[in-house]
Amino acid sequence: MKTLQRTLTIVKPDAVKRKAVGDIIEQFEKNGFHILAMKMLEISKHQAEQFYAVHAHRPFFNSLTDFMSSGPIVVLALEKENAIADLRKLMGATNPAQAEEGTIRKKWAATIEYNAIHGSDADETARFELSFFFAGYELAQ
Ligand code: RTP
Ligand code: MG
Repeated sequence: MKTLQRTLTIVKPDAVKRKAVGDIIEQFEKNGFHILAMKMLEISKHQAEQFYAVHAHRPFFNSLTDFMSSGPIVVLALEKENAIADLRKLMGATNPAQAEEGTIRKKWAATIEYNAIHGSDADETARFELSFFFAGYELAQ
């Protein structure tokens, strides 16, 4: 039986500034992701700290949360079979120097930090991240 899975993705401030939003959304559609919900917004430093709380003790936490609150982002709830792993494959490696040809980070990421896109990394984080940005009625299909 085929099971649909949901994941949360963010087009990060660097990619919005570089006008990559259209291209990145096209990649989602071409690769079989169904867009359940989408919005553009800015988050505060505090909201970025809450979203990335799992990284609170990492050396890059302060810089990451400054970056993520530095300008508009586009958040999308995506659905497909195997969505979490398939999205991370389409995103490419965290460090664009290691990202494979054809991935979003290979095309749009500048550095390991300014790397264009976020994707949930597991079922539990996807549930947290989807509910962080979207109310239940926005995801109801
Ligand atoms: P993401 O959570 O944004 O989808 O990225 P990821 O899983 O590929 O990478 P993760 O290890 O979760 O790191 C989260 C974000 O923190 C920034 N970062 N900076 N300066 C650094 O060494 C460093 N390492 C990570 C990146 O923006 C990364 O996507
Ligand atoms: Mg991550």
